[in-house]
Amino acid sequence: MSMPPSAAAPASRRVLTGITTSGTPHLGNYAGAIRPAIQSSTEPGVDAFFFLADFHALIKCADPARVAQSRLEIAATWIAAGLDTDRVTFYRQSDVPEIPELCWMLTCVTAKGLMNRAHAYKAAVDANLAKDEEPDDGITMGLFSYPVLMAADILLFNAHRVPVGRDQIQHLEMARDIAQRFNHLYGRGQDLFVLPEVQIDEDVATLPGLDGRKMSKSYNNTIPLFEGGRKALKAAVAQIVTDSRLPGEPKDADGAHLFTLYRAFATHAQAAAFRTALEGGLGWGDAKQALCEQIEAQIGPMREPYAELMAHPERIEAILQAGAQKARAIAMPFMDRLREAVGLRQPAAPSGAGKAAGKTGKVGRARLVSFRDEDGQFRQRLFAADGTELLLSEPFGDPKVLNNLGRSFAERDLAALVADVQGLVALEADGLCWARIPASDLAAVQAALAQV
Ligand code: TRP
Repeated sequence: MSMPPSAAAPASRRVLTGITTSGTPHLGNYAGAIRPAIQSSTEPGVDAFFFLADFHALIKCADPARVAQSRLEIAATWIAAGLDTDRVTFYRQSDVPEIPELCWMLTCVTAKGLMNRAHAYKAAVDANLAKDEEPDDGITMGLFSYPVLMAADILLFNAHRVPVGRDQIQHLEMARDIAQRFNHLYGRGQDLFVLPEVQIDEDVATLPGLDGRKMSKSYNNTIPLFEGGRKALKAAVAQIVTDSRLPGEPKDADGAHLFTLYRAFATHAQAAAFRTALEGGLGWGDAKQALCEQIEAQIGPMREPYAELMAHPERIEAILQAGAQKARAIAMPFMDRLREAVGLRQPAAPSGAGKAAGKTGKVGRARLVSFRDEDGQFRQRLFAADGTELLLSEPFGDPKVLNNLGRSFAERDLAALVADVQGLVALEADGLCWARIPASDLAAVQAALAQV
Protein backbone atom coordinates (compact mmCIF):
# COMPACT_ATOMS: atom_id res chain seq x y z
CA MET A 1 0.00 0.00 0.00
CA SER A 2 1.48 3.37 -0.95
CA MET A 3 1.93 5.91 1.83
CA PRO A 4 2.02 9.43 0.38
CA PRO A 5 2.40 12.28 2.84
CA SER A 6 -0.72 13.66 4.47
CA ALA A 7 -2.50 16.67 3.08
CA ALA A 8 -2.44 20.10 4.73
CA ALA A 9 -0.45 20.11 7.96
CA PRO A 10 -2.05 22.55 10.39
CA ALA A 11 -0.36 23.94 13.48
CA SER A 12 -1.80 21.38 15.85
CA ARG A 13 -1.90 17.67 15.25
CA ARG A 14 -5.27 16.10 15.48
CA VAL A 15 -5.20 12.79 17.35
CA LEU A 16 -8.35 10.66 17.35
CA THR A 17 -9.31 7.33 18.84
CA GLY A 18 -12.48 5.43 19.70
CA ILE A 19 -13.41 2.80 22.25
CA THR A 20 -16.13 0.27 21.47
CA THR A 21 -18.76 0.32 24.21
CA SER A 22 -19.51 -3.35 24.60
CA GLY A 23 -17.91 -4.16 27.94
CA THR A 24 -16.80 -3.05 31.38
CA PRO A 25 -13.36 -1.44 31.38
CA HIS A 26 -10.65 -3.53 33.04
CA LEU A 27 -7.12 -2.78 34.13
CA GLY A 28 -5.74 -3.69 30.69
CA ASN A 29 -8.00 -1.15 28.95
CA TYR A 30 -6.89 1.47 31.45
CA ALA A 31 -3.12 0.96 31.22
CA GLY A 32 -3.10 0.08 27.51
CA ALA A 33 -5.44 2.70 26.07
CA ILE A 34 -7.11 5.16 28.43
CA ARG A 35 -4.08 6.22 30.48
CA PRO A 36 -1.73 6.80 27.51
CA ALA A 37 -4.46 8.61 25.56
CA ILE A 38 -5.15 11.00 28.43
CA GLN A 39 -1.42 11.50 28.83
CA SER A 40 -0.93 12.38 25.16
CA SER A 41 -3.90 14.77 25.21
CA THR A 42 -2.00 17.01 27.63
CA GLU A 43 0.96 17.44 25.27
CA PRO A 44 1.30 20.84 23.63
CA GLY A 45 0.05 21.02 20.04
CA VAL A 46 -2.18 17.98 20.40
CA ASP A 47 -5.85 18.44 19.52
CA ALA A 48 -7.38 15.25 20.87
CA PHE A 49 -10.66 13.63 19.82
CA PHE A 50 -11.81 10.70 21.95
CA PHE A 51 -15.14 9.05 21.39
CA LEU A 52 -17.37 6.18 22.48
CA ALA A 53 -17.86 3.93 19.47
CA ASP A 54 -21.38 2.85 20.33
CA PHE A 55 -22.44 2.19 16.72
CA HIS A 56 -19.53 -0.23 16.58
CA ALA A 57 -20.80 -1.85 19.77
CA LEU A 58 -24.00 -2.89 17.97
CA ILE A 59 -21.92 -5.03 15.63
CA LYS A 60 -20.55 -7.11 18.49
CA CYS A 61 -23.33 -7.01 21.01
CA ALA A 62 -27.10 -7.41 20.64
CA ASP A 63 -27.81 -6.94 24.34
CA PRO A 64 -29.33 -3.43 24.74
CA ALA A 65 -28.78 -3.31 28.51
CA ARG A 66 -25.13 -4.24 28.10
CA VAL A 67 -24.54 -1.54 25.46
CA ALA A 68 -26.34 1.11 27.55
CA GLN A 69 -24.41 0.21 30.70
CA SER A 70 -21.08 0.09 28.88
CA ARG A 71 -21.58 3.56 27.40
CA LEU A 72 -21.98 4.93 30.91
CA GLU A 73 -19.12 2.96 32.45
CA ILE A 74 -16.63 3.81 29.76
CA ALA A 75 -17.55 7.50 29.75
CA ALA A 76 -17.31 7.64 33.56
CA THR A 77 -13.95 5.86 33.44
CA TRP A 78 -12.40 8.41 31.09
CA ILE A 79 -13.66 11.32 33.12
CA ALA A 80 -12.69 9.81 36.49
CA ALA A 81 -9.26 8.95 35.10
CA GLY A 82 -8.61 12.66 34.64
CA LEU A 83 -9.59 13.46 31.04
CA ASP A 84 -9.92 17.23 30.67
CA THR A 85 -13.18 17.31 28.71
CA ASP A 86 -12.89 21.06 28.14
CA ARG A 87 -9.52 20.69 26.47
CA VAL A 88 -10.29 17.64 24.32
CA THR A 89 -13.33 16.79 22.21
CA PHE A 90 -15.00 13.88 24.02
CA TYR A 91 -18.21 12.61 22.42
CA ARG A 92 -20.37 9.66 21.56
CA GLN A 93 -20.39 8.40 17.98
CA SER A 94 -24.19 8.08 17.86
CA ASP A 95 -24.59 11.77 18.78
CA VAL A 96 -22.90 12.82 15.54
CA PRO A 97 -25.28 11.97 12.66
CA GLU A 98 -22.68 13.18 10.17
CA ILE A 99 -20.71 9.97 10.90
CA PRO A 100 -23.28 7.53 9.46
CA GLU A 101 -23.94 9.97 6.62
CA LEU A 102 -20.27 10.02 5.70
CA CYS A 103 -20.15 6.26 6.21
CA TRP A 104 -22.66 5.88 3.40
CA MET A 105 -20.72 8.17 1.06
CA LEU A 106 -17.59 6.14 1.77
CA THR A 107 -19.44 2.85 1.35
CA CYS A 108 -20.29 3.96 -2.18
CA VAL A 109 -16.63 4.33 -3.15
CA THR A 110 -15.23 1.34 -1.22
CA ALA A 111 -14.35 -1.73 -3.26
CA LYS A 112 -16.10 -4.82 -1.96
CA GLY A 113 -12.89 -6.71 -2.65
CA LEU A 114 -11.09 -4.53 -0.14
CA MET A 115 -13.58 -5.49 2.56
CA ASN A 116 -13.30 -9.16 1.62
CA ARG A 117 -9.68 -8.96 2.78
CA ALA A 118 -10.45 -7.59 6.27
CA HIS A 119 -8.93 -9.82 8.97
CA ALA A 120 -12.03 -9.85 11.20
CA TYR A 121 -14.29 -10.83 8.31
CA LYS A 122 -11.85 -13.45 7.00
CA ALA A 123 -11.50 -14.96 10.47
CA ALA A 124 -15.28 -15.29 10.72
CA VAL A 125 -15.44 -16.96 7.29
CA ASP A 126 -12.59 -19.34 8.21
CA ALA A 127 -14.36 -20.28 11.43
CA ASN A 128 -17.49 -21.11 9.43
CA LEU A 129 -15.57 -23.21 6.91
CA ALA A 130 -13.87 -25.10 9.73
CA LYS A 131 -17.32 -25.98 11.05
CA ASP A 132 -18.53 -26.99 7.57
CA GLU A 133 -21.00 -24.09 7.51
CA GLU A 134 -21.81 -21.67 4.69
CA PRO A 135 -18.92 -19.17 4.48
CA ASP A 136 -21.07 -16.16 5.45
CA ASP A 137 -23.16 -17.94 8.06
CA GLY A 138 -24.13 -15.52 10.82
CA ILE A 139 -22.01 -12.70 9.37
CA THR A 140 -23.83 -9.37 9.28
CA MET A 141 -23.31 -6.41 6.97
CA GLY A 142 -22.27 -4.56 10.12
CA LEU A 143 -19.28 -6.85 10.61
CA PHE A 144 -18.48 -6.78 6.91
CA SER A 145 -18.60 -2.97 6.67
CA TYR A 146 -16.98 -2.34 10.05
CA PRO A 147 -13.84 -0.78 8.49
CA VAL A 148 -15.93 1.72 6.49
CA LEU A 149 -17.65 3.03 9.62
CA MET A 150 -14.27 3.30 11.28
CA ALA A 151 -12.94 5.22 8.28
CA ALA A 152 -15.88 7.63 8.60
CA ASP A 153 -15.04 8.18 12.30
CA ILE A 154 -11.52 9.15 11.39
CA LEU A 155 -11.94 11.02 8.09
CA LEU A 156 -14.84 13.21 9.24
CA PHE A 157 -12.44 14.96 11.62
CA ASN A 158 -9.41 14.81 9.35
CA ALA A 159 -7.35 13.17 12.10
CA HIS A 160 -3.62 12.98 11.49
CA ARG A 161 -2.80 10.30 14.01
CA VAL A 162 -4.84 7.40 15.30
CA PRO A 163 -3.40 5.59 18.34
CA VAL A 164 -4.69 2.01 18.35
CA GLY A 165 -3.63 -1.54 19.11
CA ARG A 166 -1.84 -3.69 16.54
CA ASP A 167 -5.05 -5.47 15.62
CA GLN A 168 -6.31 -2.19 14.13
CA ILE A 169 -3.43 -1.51 11.71
CA GLN A 170 -5.28 -2.98 8.76
CA HIS A 171 -8.31 -0.81 9.49
CA LEU A 172 -6.12 2.28 9.29
CA GLU A 173 -4.68 1.14 5.97
CA MET A 174 -8.21 0.70 4.69
CA ALA A 175 -9.19 4.16 5.92
CA ARG A 176 -6.27 5.60 3.93
CA ASP A 177 -7.26 3.63 0.85
CA ILE A 178 -10.83 4.82 1.07
CA ALA A 179 -9.74 8.42 1.66
CA GLN A 180 -7.46 8.34 -1.37
CA ARG A 181 -10.20 6.95 -3.56
CA PHE A 182 -12.62 9.64 -2.39
CA ASN A 183 -10.03 12.40 -2.85
CA HIS A 184 -9.31 11.12 -6.32
CA LEU A 185 -12.96 10.91 -7.35
CA TYR A 186 -14.24 14.11 -5.80
CA GLY A 187 -11.29 16.27 -4.77
CA ARG A 188 -10.99 18.19 -8.07
CA GLY A 189 -7.31 18.74 -7.43
CA GLN A 190 -7.77 19.53 -3.77
CA ASP A 191 -7.72 16.78 -1.16
CA LEU A 192 -10.87 16.61 0.89
CA PHE A 193 -9.49 14.13 3.43
CA VAL A 194 -6.24 14.00 5.33
CA LEU A 195 -4.63 10.54 5.10
CA PRO A 196 -4.46 9.34 8.72
CA GLU A 197 -1.38 7.68 10.18
CA VAL A 198 -1.61 4.75 12.55
CA GLN A 199 0.20 5.21 15.86
CA ILE A 200 1.39 2.11 17.70
CA ASP A 201 2.98 2.94 21.05
CA GLU A 202 5.78 0.49 21.68
CA ASP A 203 6.29 1.55 25.28
CA VAL A 204 2.64 1.30 26.24
CA ALA A 205 1.94 -1.69 28.40
CA THR A 206 -0.01 -4.61 26.99
CA LEU A 207 -1.03 -6.04 30.33
CA PRO A 208 -0.97 -9.76 30.93
CA GLY A 209 -4.07 -11.19 32.56
CA LEU A 210 -4.33 -13.51 35.55
CA ASP A 211 -3.06 -16.47 33.50
CA GLY A 212 -0.27 -14.59 31.71
CA ARG A 213 -2.00 -14.34 28.35
CA LYS A 214 -3.01 -10.85 27.12
CA MET A 215 -5.62 -9.41 29.51
CA SER A 216 -8.89 -9.72 27.66
CA LYS A 217 -12.55 -10.22 28.37
CA SER A 218 -12.61 -13.08 25.88
CA TYR A 219 -9.97 -14.98 27.89
CA ASN A 220 -11.83 -14.35 31.13
CA ASN A 221 -8.55 -13.37 32.81
CA THR A 222 -9.14 -9.70 33.60
CA ILE A 223 -8.53 -7.63 36.68
CA PRO A 224 -11.45 -5.22 37.20
CA LEU A 225 -10.75 -1.50 37.18
CA PHE A 226 -13.58 -0.12 39.36
CA GLU A 227 -16.17 -2.89 39.39
CA GLY A 228 -16.46 -4.42 42.85
CA GLY A 229 -14.15 -1.86 44.41
CA ARG A 230 -10.93 -2.52 46.25
CA LYS A 231 -12.14 -5.91 47.42
CA ALA A 232 -12.58 -7.22 43.88
CA LEU A 233 -9.14 -5.93 42.97
CA LYS A 234 -7.61 -7.86 45.87
CA ALA A 235 -9.56 -10.99 45.02
CA ALA A 236 -8.42 -10.85 41.40
CA VAL A 237 -4.77 -10.23 42.28
CA ALA A 238 -4.89 -13.22 44.63
CA GLN A 239 -5.69 -15.37 41.57
CA ILE A 240 -2.65 -14.32 39.54
CA VAL A 241 -0.83 -17.48 38.52
CA THR A 242 2.75 -17.76 39.83
CA ASP A 243 5.31 -20.57 40.01
CA SER A 244 5.50 -22.64 43.15
CA ARG A 245 8.68 -21.23 44.66
CA LEU A 246 8.42 -20.73 48.40
CA PRO A 247 9.13 -17.60 50.43
CA GLY A 248 12.89 -17.24 50.79
CA GLU A 249 13.60 -18.81 47.40
CA PRO A 250 14.83 -16.37 44.72
CA LYS A 251 12.17 -15.56 42.08
CA ASP A 252 12.62 -14.97 38.35
CA ALA A 253 11.18 -11.44 38.02
CA ASP A 254 11.31 -11.37 34.22
CA GLY A 255 9.51 -14.69 33.98
CA ALA A 256 6.69 -13.54 36.28
CA HIS A 257 3.75 -11.70 34.76
CA LEU A 258 3.01 -10.43 38.25
CA PHE A 259 6.16 -8.35 37.81
CA THR A 260 4.98 -7.08 34.40
CA LEU A 261 1.74 -5.94 36.04
CA TYR A 262 3.64 -4.23 38.83
CA ARG A 263 5.88 -2.40 36.38
CA ALA A 264 2.87 -0.93 34.58
CA PHE A 265 1.93 0.92 37.76
CA ALA A 266 5.37 1.77 39.12
CA THR A 267 8.21 4.20 38.51
CA HIS A 268 11.52 2.79 37.27
CA ALA A 269 12.95 3.03 40.78
CA GLN A 270 9.99 1.23 42.34
CA ALA A 271 10.17 -1.52 39.73
CA ALA A 272 13.91 -1.96 40.31
CA ALA A 273 13.36 -2.24 44.08
CA PHE A 274 10.58 -4.78 43.53
CA ARG A 275 12.83 -6.85 41.25
CA THR A 276 15.55 -6.88 43.90
CA ALA A 277 13.02 -7.98 46.52
CA LEU A 278 11.72 -10.82 44.31
CA GLU A 279 15.24 -11.99 43.49
CA GLY A 280 16.00 -11.81 47.20
CA GLY A 281 13.23 -14.28 48.00
CA LEU A 282 10.08 -12.17 48.59
CA GLY A 283 7.13 -14.56 48.96
CA TRP A 284 4.38 -14.51 46.32
CA GLY A 285 1.79 -13.63 48.96
CA ASP A 286 3.73 -10.53 49.97
CA ALA A 287 4.40 -9.73 46.32
CA LYS A 288 0.67 -9.80 45.60
CA GLN A 289 0.04 -7.54 48.55
CA ALA A 290 2.63 -5.08 47.20
CA LEU A 291 1.10 -5.23 43.70
CA CYS A 292 -2.33 -4.47 45.13
CA GLU A 293 -1.06 -1.42 46.95
CA GLN A 294 0.79 -0.23 43.87
CA ILE A 295 -2.32 -0.43 41.70
CA GLU A 296 -4.50 1.02 44.42
CA ALA A 297 -2.22 4.06 44.75
CA GLN A 298 -3.19 5.02 41.18
CA ILE A 299 -6.74 3.73 40.93
CA GLY A 300 -7.88 4.41 44.51
CA PRO A 301 -8.31 8.19 44.14
CA MET A 302 -10.46 7.69 41.03
CA ARG A 303 -12.98 5.40 42.73
CA GLU A 304 -14.93 8.17 44.38
CA PRO A 305 -15.33 10.37 41.26
CA TYR A 306 -16.25 7.26 39.26
CA ALA A 307 -18.96 6.25 41.73
CA GLU A 308 -20.23 9.85 41.82
CA LEU A 309 -20.59 9.91 38.03
CA MET A 310 -22.27 6.51 37.87
CA ALA A 311 -24.75 7.73 40.48
CA HIS A 312 -25.48 10.82 38.35
CA PRO A 313 -25.74 9.71 34.73
CA GLU A 314 -27.16 13.14 33.85
CA ARG A 315 -23.73 14.64 34.56
CA ILE A 316 -22.13 12.21 32.12
CA GLU A 317 -24.83 13.07 29.62
CA ALA A 318 -24.22 16.82 29.94
CA ILE A 319 -20.51 16.34 29.29
CA LEU A 320 -21.19 14.14 26.26
CA GLN A 321 -23.73 16.59 24.86
CA ALA A 322 -21.26 19.44 25.15
CA GLY A 323 -18.71 17.21 23.40
CA ALA A 324 -21.16 16.38 20.62
CA GLN A 325 -21.73 20.11 20.06
CA LYS A 326 -18.02 20.70 19.73
CA ALA A 327 -17.66 17.75 17.36
CA ARG A 328 -20.61 18.80 15.24
CA ALA A 329 -19.36 22.37 14.98
CA ILE A 330 -16.60 20.81 12.90
CA ALA A 331 -18.56 17.98 11.29
CA MET A 332 -21.52 19.97 9.98
CA PRO A 333 -19.71 22.50 7.79
CA PHE A 334 -17.32 19.80 6.54
CA MET A 335 -20.28 17.61 5.67
CA ASP A 336 -21.77 20.52 3.70
CA ARG A 337 -18.56 20.60 1.68
CA LEU A 338 -18.64 16.85 1.12
CA ARG A 339 -22.27 16.90 0.06
CA GLU A 340 -21.41 19.64 -2.39
CA ALA A 341 -18.45 17.60 -3.66
CA VAL A 342 -20.54 14.50 -4.45
CA GLY A 343 -23.36 16.51 -6.02
CA LEU A 344 -25.83 16.57 -3.13
CA ARG A 345 -25.99 20.37 -3.19
CA GLN A 346 -28.11 22.62 -1.09
CA PRO A 347 -30.71 24.27 -3.31
CA ALA A 348 -29.07 27.40 -4.72
CA ALA A 349 -30.42 30.75 -3.59
CA PRO A 350 -32.64 32.13 -6.35
CA SER A 351 -30.70 34.89 -8.08
CA GLY A 352 -31.64 38.35 -6.92
CA ALA A 353 -33.23 36.94 -3.79
CA GLY A 354 -31.96 39.67 -1.58
CA LYS A 355 -32.06 40.17 2.08
CA ALA A 356 -35.84 40.26 2.18
CA ALA A 357 -36.06 36.76 3.52
CA GLY A 358 -39.70 37.15 4.40
CA LYS A 359 -40.77 37.97 0.85
CA THR A 360 -39.04 35.34 -1.27
CA GLY A 361 -40.57 31.89 -1.59
CA LYS A 362 -39.64 29.92 1.51
CA VAL A 363 -37.24 27.05 0.83
CA GLY A 364 -36.86 25.18 4.10
CA ARG A 365 -36.07 27.12 7.24
CA ALA A 366 -33.42 29.55 8.33
CA ARG A 367 -30.30 27.86 9.76
CA LEU A 368 -27.63 28.78 12.23
CA VAL A 369 -24.49 26.78 11.39
CA SER A 370 -21.47 26.48 13.69
CA PHE A 371 -18.03 25.71 12.30
CA ARG A 372 -14.36 25.98 13.07
CA ASP A 373 -12.40 28.49 11.00
CA GLU A 374 -8.81 28.09 9.72
CA ASP A 375 -7.44 29.49 12.96
CA GLY A 376 -9.23 26.83 14.97
CA GLN A 377 -11.72 29.37 16.35
CA PHE A 378 -15.43 28.68 16.48
CA ARG A 379 -17.85 30.81 14.44
CA GLN A 380 -21.44 30.76 13.30
CA ARG A 381 -23.16 31.63 10.06
CA LEU A 382 -26.81 32.52 9.88
CA PHE A 383 -28.62 31.63 6.67
CA ALA A 384 -32.06 32.81 5.67
CA ALA A 385 -34.63 30.23 4.61
CA ASP A 386 -33.70 30.85 0.96
CA GLY A 387 -30.04 30.08 1.65
CA THR A 388 -28.80 33.70 1.71
CA GLU A 389 -25.99 34.18 4.21
CA LEU A 390 -27.11 36.87 6.62
CA LEU A 391 -24.37 36.93 9.19
CA LEU A 392 -20.90 35.68 10.08
CA SER A 393 -20.15 35.76 13.81
CA GLU A 394 -17.01 36.88 15.55
CA PRO A 395 -14.52 34.09 16.40
CA PHE A 396 -14.82 32.37 19.78
CA GLY A 397 -12.48 29.98 21.54
CA ASP A 398 -15.23 28.17 23.39
CA PRO A 399 -18.03 26.70 21.26
CA LYS A 400 -20.36 26.53 24.26
CA VAL A 401 -20.11 30.26 24.87
CA LEU A 402 -20.74 30.91 21.18
CA ASN A 403 -23.75 28.60 20.99
CA ASN A 404 -25.35 30.09 24.06
CA LEU A 405 -24.73 33.58 22.77
CA GLY A 406 -26.20 32.83 19.35
CA ARG A 407 -29.23 31.22 20.89
CA SER A 408 -29.79 34.14 23.23
CA PHE A 409 -30.45 36.49 20.31
CA ALA A 410 -33.49 34.53 19.21
CA GLU A 411 -35.36 35.95 22.19
CA ARG A 412 -34.18 39.54 21.87
CA ASP A 413 -35.57 42.54 20.10
CA LEU A 414 -32.62 43.37 17.87
CA ALA A 415 -33.94 46.80 16.96
CA ALA A 416 -33.24 47.89 20.52
CA LEU A 417 -29.50 47.48 19.97
CA VAL A 418 -27.32 50.51 19.45
CA ALA A 419 -25.92 51.30 16.03
CA ASP A 420 -22.18 51.49 15.64
CA VAL A 421 -20.34 54.09 13.59
CA GLN A 422 -20.17 52.91 9.99
CA GLY A 423 -23.77 51.85 9.78
CA LEU A 424 -22.99 48.56 11.52
CA VAL A 425 -24.91 47.27 14.49
CA ALA A 426 -23.07 45.27 17.14
CA LEU A 427 -25.15 42.37 18.42
CA GLU A 428 -24.02 42.18 22.02
CA ALA A 429 -25.15 40.25 25.05
CA ASP A 430 -23.55 39.60 28.41
CA GLY A 431 -20.69 41.92 27.44
CA LEU A 432 -19.79 39.77 24.41
CA CYS A 433 -20.07 40.81 20.80
CA TRP A 434 -21.63 38.01 18.74
CA ALA A 435 -21.52 39.73 15.37
CA ARG A 436 -21.63 43.07 13.56
CA ILE A 437 -24.19 43.52 10.81
CA PRO A 438 -25.41 46.39 8.62
CA ALA A 439 -28.35 48.12 10.29
CA SER A 440 -30.38 47.46 7.14
CA ASP A 441 -30.08 43.69 7.73
CA LEU A 442 -31.60 43.83 11.19
CA ALA A 443 -35.09 42.84 10.11
CA ALA A 444 -33.91 39.88 8.00
CA VAL A 445 -31.65 38.65 10.79
CA GLN A 446 -34.43 39.00 13.31
CA ALA A 447 -36.80 37.02 11.07
CA ALA A 448 -34.25 34.26 10.50
CA LEU A 449 -33.36 34.00 14.19
CA ALA A 450 -36.99 33.53 15.03
CA GLN A 451 -36.96 30.35 12.93
CA VAL A 452 -33.81 28.68 14.23
N1 TRP B 1 -12.19 -0.53 16.10
C1 TRP B 1 -11.64 0.06 17.27
C2 TRP B 1 -11.32 -1.03 18.31
O1 TRP B 1 -12.02 -2.03 18.36
C3 TRP B 1 -12.56 1.09 17.87
C4 TRP B 1 -12.78 2.21 16.93
C5 TRP B 1 -13.92 2.52 16.24
C6 TRP B 1 -11.81 3.16 16.54
N2 TRP B 1 -13.73 3.61 15.47
C7 TRP B 1 -12.44 4.03 15.62
C8 TRP B 1 -10.46 3.37 16.90
C9 TRP B 1 -11.75 5.10 15.04
C10 TRP B 1 -9.78 4.42 16.30
C11 TRP B 1 -10.41 5.28 15.38
O2 TRP B 1 -10.40 -0.86 19.06
